[in-house]
Amino acid sequence: MGKKEERLRTTWISFGAVILACTILAFSFAQAQQAPATKDTMTTVMRSCSACHDTARVCRALGTRDAAGWERTIKRMVAKGASLGTEDIQAAAGLLATLAPGSKPVCK
Ligand code: HEC
Repeated sequence: MGKKEERLRTTWISFGAVILACTILAFSFAQAQQAPATKDTMTTVMRSCSACHDTARVCRALGTRDAAGWERTIKRMVAKGASLGTEDIQAAAGLLATLAPGSKPVCK
């Protein structure tokens, strides 16, 4: 490969890297802006997690586990019949992990 082509190739690779970095940045920014989605997730939690027991049960567990722990709990609930899709499970686990003990509306 000639020197010129090599330089051209390097330019394209750096250009690609910049595009990729911008995409990742834009994506994480979009993720950070999830306020409306959080509201929807709260609606899902309040509806799906009060079908068998009161959300007081969920309330008592706030602050006791991280997102992975909540995901395990929710999957256990789904196995019992809770109706949440894969995305709902992850969103709900993420939300519940951030709620401080006593947070409304989960706690009354
Ligand atoms: C299909 C019925 C059902 C639904 C719907 C349900 N649960 Fe449960 N849940 C149970 C039963 C039964 C228990 C008690 C037995 C147990 O802990 O496995 C329980 C217990 C719990 C506990 C106490 C035990 C622990 O792990 O700390 C928590 C917290 C909990 N549920 C959270 C949730 C959340 C969050 C949702 C919504 C995603 C939900 N539940 C939806 C049936 C359900």
